[in-house]
Amino acid sequence: MHKRTFLKSITLAGLGLPQLGKSNTSSLIIDSNLPAPIVAKDEKFWKSVRALYKIKSDYINLESGYYNMLPEETLEQYLAIIKEVNYHASFYMRTRQFKERAAQNQLIAQFLGGSEEEIVLTRNTTESLDLIISGYPWQLGDEAIYAEQDYGAMIDMFKQVAKRNGVVNKMVSVPNIPQSDEEIVSIYEKAITPKTKLIMICHIINITGQILPVKKICDMAHKYGVEVMVDGAHAVAQIQFNISELGCDYYGASLHKWLAVPLGVGVLYVKKEHQSKIWPLIGENESVQGINRLNHFGTNPVHTYLALQFAIQFHHKIGAANKEERLRYLQQYWTTKVISIPNIILNTPSESKRSCAIANVGIKGLKPADMAETLLKKYRIYTVAIDSAGVHGCRITPNVFTTLAELDQFVAALKEMAA
Ligand SMILES: Cc1ncc(COP(=O)(O)O)c(C=O)c1O
Repeated sequence: MHKRTFLKSITLAGLGLPQLGKSNTSSLIIDSNLPAPIVAKDEKFWKSVRALYKIKSDYINLESGYYNMLPEETLEQYLAIIKEVNYHASFYMRTRQFKERAAQNQLIAQFLGGSEEEIVLTRNTTESLDLIISGYPWQLGDEAIYAEQDYGAMIDMFKQVAKRNGVVNKMVSVPNIPQSDEEIVSIYEKAITPKTKLIMICHIINITGQILPVKKICDMAHKYGVEVMVDGAHAVAQIQFNISELGCDYYGASLHKWLAVPLGVGVLYVKKEHQSKIWPLIGENESVQGINRLNHFGTNPVHTYLALQFAIQFHHKIGAANKEERLRYLQQYWTTKVISIPNIILNTPSESKRSCAIANVGIKGLKPADMAETLLKKYRIYTVAIDSAGVHGCRITPNVFTTLAELDQFVAALKEMAA
């Protein structure tokens, strides 16, 4: 019989961090010897994970893509930190704040497999990536490449630097169902000219859930001397990866998405060799060098950043591999049931390496907004409608607390609506 153990967690005391709030995950017992694909189908285990959340009964939540709700224990720990900071007030802000926030930086750097000298905490992906786009040392006529499936806030910043700095933007389109990595790489490669400086790519496209071959795109771009900035809003803590192995130059993500940190925490990675050429979003004292030069944060909700430690602990208690496998299993559970139904259009590739939790489904002849409304009003299933960039359907995002019974209800609803 396998030994029953709790999954390993990062030691907070070792980082000099306060250990506030009680953990309820003592009920979360898992055999650490079991391979993730087996754990992914252990409904008893996932039922015990679900019990750690306060789930609304009004509707089935299949929209975890905006942000991931916190399990009750992270919420309690977060509230305890808010009280602690409030109790010590200005004294806390003038004394402990900097060391404790820096310790969170260290935690996220470890989590991503990178160095504290290249990674800092921000408010969100938007801040991280817009800092790079707006702070890049653009020259008149420089070119940038992005895809129409990229996130609007970053595209808007590229449009601003086009007006302000005379940057020429080239927009490509990524097919919803690609045939190969090479097909995607060549789409970006064909848009490169001698004037191209920067390519933006999504690690996971938010409207379809498609995972892009980041390393292959970076390797190709670097051959032309072009830098790559990755939008990892949905990748951190949904899929496992090591940031140093991706080969990108810049990376931004939101930790309130799949890591389930309270709202308002993101991360920025800037390769050391690029740090000094980027203009900060907020001016910093000239004595501050390295990545911290790009990270002047002023008076900030430090308690929100301090909650990162608890979110990471929770993530490790479930197990990164177990979580990724479970999320992919849930997505494949419903997509395989509907893929061959007449009138159903899946906008997400089925290959395991090209998708995980998120998938997008449309119904022939039905507007995505009407589809989302019917799902909510008639079937009590909450999703989000997507109707742009060649993607027409509802984005479906289950989470670790989603049950197979809920997905069965969704599949039954889709069947009725498609008929
Ligand atoms: C791909 C992608 N990039 C960026 C963002 C922006 O994230 P935030 O609003 O947390 O900055 C999102 C948000 O959903 C996203 O899906």
